[in-house]
Amino acid sequence: MADEDFAQTIADTLAIIEDKLTEATVSQYSFVTQAAQHVVAAGGKRFRPAMVVIAAHLGSGFDLTRLINAALVMELTHVASLYHDDVMDEADLRRGVTSANRRYGNSTAILVGDYLFARASSYVAMLGPEYVDLQARTFAELVEGQMAETAGPEAGEDPIEHHFKVLAGKTASLIRASALFGGMIGGVSAEVLDAVGRFGLEIGMVFQLSDDLIDIVSDKTGKTPGTDLREGIPTLPTLLLRSSPSASDHELAAFIAGGLDDDGDLAQALARLRSSSVIDQTRDEINRRAAVARSYLSPLPAGAAKDALDRLCDEVVTRSS
Ligand code: IPE
Ligand code: IPE
Ligand code: MG
Ligand code: MG
Repeated sequence: MADEDFAQTIADTLAIIEDKLTEATVSQYSFVTQAAQHVVAAGGKRFRPAMVVIAAHLGSGFDLTRLINAALVMELTHVASLYHDDVMDEADLRRGVTSANRRYGNSTAILVGDYLFARASSYVAMLGPEYVDLQARTFAELVEGQMAETAGPEAGEDPIEHHFKVLAGKTASLIRASALFGGMIGGVSAEVLDAVGRFGLEIGMVFQLSDDLIDIVSDKTGKTPGTDLREGIPTLPTLLLRSSPSASDHELAAFIAGGLDDDGDLAQALARLRSSSVIDQTRDEINRRAAVARSYLSPLPAGAAKDALDRLCDEVVTRSS
């Protein structure tokens, strides 16, 4: 299939998934439906469903209903985690709209997250036990990653190594699972499934590292810029400040650690961080990992799906450049 035809096929499938997401979030109570659809309807990149659909095309054929259900499971799990994450991060904005925690309160936001996870469980049950097992392990890793981020490194643990473990858990695990779900639905060989899983994990790392950089360098994310800084959430740039040889980087690290509740302080910290060399170092790490992700694609069969995954390596990087 030519790359343009392939792109259209993917877009058509994602359009069906879009309708099914709305259906999947209808409750017997209209207020639950409204709160559940608040973040779903606000859009988002649908990166995980796209990963499922593209990876499914690496095989020789698939059942469309199963493919759609697999993609729904991944997006519903993702959106559930966003509801919970915004409570943890005290976020005001998500996907360009008021976050559910701000709009409905923390208790409702947490319960809606649980509700969406339950909905994901119903769809994954239809796919079979190996899918249930992978989704359960993935969700456990995601939660562990979120908790490890809050807990911080253990005594003697390298903070940057700890940080990479956090990113693997909270973000890359679900992107890996999306790639694996797609491969499983497409019936790919064990070798291809292994490769696509490794690819998913590494591109997931690139995705979160880029997202953290965007939080610092861009104000067009549909989220409030500088949220991580304000909340004191460590990201690669702020961790690099601490190990930097530059005195002004150390001073900035101390300024950030002192708390940025004041809007003027936050703006100053953002501006100083943007002009520090840690931004370029973070870009280097993103590029290095994108190249690693690309290298995992070599055992994949040549074709439009492999090409699309290859292009994704550039797209995830250029998001933050
Ligand atoms: C947000 O994920 C949470 C992260 C893992 C960075 P996305 O950046 O995929 O968010 P949406 O789905 O496009 O809103
Ligand atoms: C992303 O958390 C991971 C999950 C939602 C599980 P972040 O806190 O880093 O992501 P954003 O910036 O709020 O999207
Ligand atoms: Mg957050
Ligand atoms: Mg968070």
